Amino acid sequence: MAVWWKQSVFYQIYMPSFKDGNGDGMGDFAGITEKLDYIKDLGIEGLWLTPFYPSPKVDNGYDISDYESIDPAYGTMEDFERFIEEAHLRKIRVIVDLVLNHTSSEHPWFKKSRSAKDHPKRDWFIWRDQPNNWESFFGGSAWEYDVLTNQYYYHAFAKEQVDLNWANPDVKKAMFHVMKFWLEKGVDGFRLDVINFLKVQDQFQDNPYDEGKQEQVHLYDKDQQGILAVIEEIAGFVHQYPDKFLVGEVGSEDLEILKRYSGQDKLDVVFNFNIGSIARFDLTMLYQQLFATEQAYDSYQIPTLFFSSHDMSRHISRFGNDEDRAKLVAALLLTAKGIPFLYYGDEIGMGDWITTDINKMKDVQGIMGYQLACKAGKSHEEAIAIANGKSRDKSRTPMQWNAGLNVGFSEHEPWMTIPDDANKVNVEDQQDDPDSMLSFYKNLLKIRKQHSCLTRGVYEYLNNEDGLLTFIRNDQTQRILVMFNFADHAKAIEIDNGFSTLLLSNKRKSFNRKEILANEVLIVKEETGK
Ligand code: NOJ
Repeated sequence: MAVWWKQSVFYQIYMPSFKDGNGDGMGDFAGITEKLDYIKDLGIEGLWLTPFYPSPKVDNGYDISDYESIDPAYGTMEDFERFIEEAHLRKIRVIVDLVLNHTSSEHPWFKKSRSAKDHPKRDWFIWRDQPNNWESFFGGSAWEYDVLTNQYYYHAFAKEQVDLNWANPDVKKAMFHVMKFWLEKGVDGFRLDVINFLKVQDQFQDNPYDEGKQEQVHLYDKDQQGILAVIEEIAGFVHQYPDKFLVGEVGSEDLEILKRYSGQDKLDVVFNFNIGSIARFDLTMLYQQLFATEQAYDSYQIPTLFFSSHDMSRHISRFGNDEDRAKLVAALLLTAKGIPFLYYGDEIGMGDWITTDINKMKDVQGIMGYQLACKAGKSHEEAIAIANGKSRDKSRTPMQWNAGLNVGFSEHEPWMTIPDDANKVNVEDQQDDPDSMLSFYKNLLKIRKQHSCLTRGVYEYLNNEDGLLTFIRNDQTQRILVMFNFADHAKAIEIDNGFSTLLLSNKRKSFNRKEILANEVLIVKEETGK
C-alpha cells in the first residue's frame, strides 16, 4: 500500500480555538473528538495539532513545561487517548507538534539549570558571561540576564522560551525519550517546530546587518553545522516505528535552505514557506515558486502546500478578501503537486481579526511589538499598528460553527475575542449550500481522493501566461488539466479535445473549451479509450 501521508490532506487544528468540549471557553480534546465526524466528512485524513502539553502559554503552548503530559486546559491523558482512538477509528491519522528547540522557562530542566553554575543541568541550556548581538526572532536581544548566577541565557524567541543546548548529548537523549513516549501513545508523527534552529554557532560571532534594511542577518543562529546530523538521527529513530511521518518547520523562505532538510533519511517533508507565505497575491511570484520548487527538488523530495497557518494572516484576508480568489487558492492547494495542509476555518472562508484594543491582544509577538514600540517613543496609535503587524491573533480566532452564542465554539466566554461579524461565516449555514466555500472544499477533497494523478502525478505541463496558471498532472494512468484564471475578465483559451470531463469549476456545471470565465478554475479530466 502506498505511504499514507503521500495521499492525505492534513488539517491544522490550533488547539485553543477549535472546539470547547467542557464549557470553559477554551478548545480541548473533548471538543475535537466531538468534531471528528465533521473532519471526516470534509475528507481529511491527517490532523496536525499545535502543542497541548502543560505550558504557561506565554506563546500558546510553544513554551512547554512538561513534555510527557497533557495541559489540563485541554483535558486529561484519557481524553487524549480517547481522541486518538476515535480518530483512528475514522482512519484519520494524527501528528503532533513537538518543540525540540526550546523549553518554557518554567520547565524543571531550566529551573535546575539556572539554580547554580555547577548544576549538572547547567549545560542543558546556553549560558554566557556576556551577550553577543544576536536578536530574538520576536524582537529585542536574544539574551536574558539572570541575576541568580550573573550570566545570560539564550532564547531565540521570547525570554520565557529558553533554547536547549543540543550540543549536549543528554538533551538529545531526553528528547528521544519524549518522542518514544508519544509514538507509543499512538501518534502518527510529528511536526517539528523551528527545527533548523536546533544548534547555534559555537564561537558566538556577532550576526551581520543587512546595510540597506538595517535588519540583522541571522547568519550564526540558524541553519548551523551539525543540525542535519541531528535531523538524520531523529528521522532514523522515528522511522523505526512503521508508517510514521515527519514534517519540519524550517524557518526559511530560501529554497536552497529548505531542500537541505527533506528526502531520504531526513525529514519526510518540510513546510515550503517559499510558496505558502507570499505576503500578497502575486501570480507571477506564486508560479515562479511552484516552478523553482519543481526544479530544485529531487525525486525523493515532495513539496508541501499551505497558504494559511497560526503564524500568518489567513489567505482570504491576505489576498484581498475575495471569495472567488479564495476558492481558486483552495483549488491550487488541493490540485498542485505537494502535501496540502489546510488551516482550520479556511474551509468556510474565515478571515483575519484585528483589534485596536491592546488589552485584547493575546499573542506574545504582538504584545512585545507594542511594548518595544512604546519604549522607542512611538505613540499609542503607532504602537498598536506595529503590534497588529506582528500579532498572530489575526488567524487564531475561535472556529465559527454556527451563528449562535459564541459562534457555537463554547457556551462560556471564549479565551479570545470573537470578531463582530463572525456569525456571518459559519459551518452550519454552509453545510447544505452547494455553492458555499465549504461545499467547494469538500468537492475538491473528494476529487483529489478519487484521482491518483492529483496525489502521485508529475507536472506534465506547468505554465503561467497572461494571468492564466495552467498545469497538467499525469501519473501514467490518467491526466488532469487544471486551469486558473485569476483575472477579473474572461479569457479565450484552447483546451485539447481529450480533456472532456469537467470535474469541477467554481462557476458552472459544464464548460466551454474556448473560454475561461473571470475568477474561474477548471479541473478537467482526460477521457481515454473512448
Ligand atoms: C514556530 C511556531 O509555529 C510559532 O507559533 C512559535 O511562536 C515559534 N515556532 C516558536 O516556538
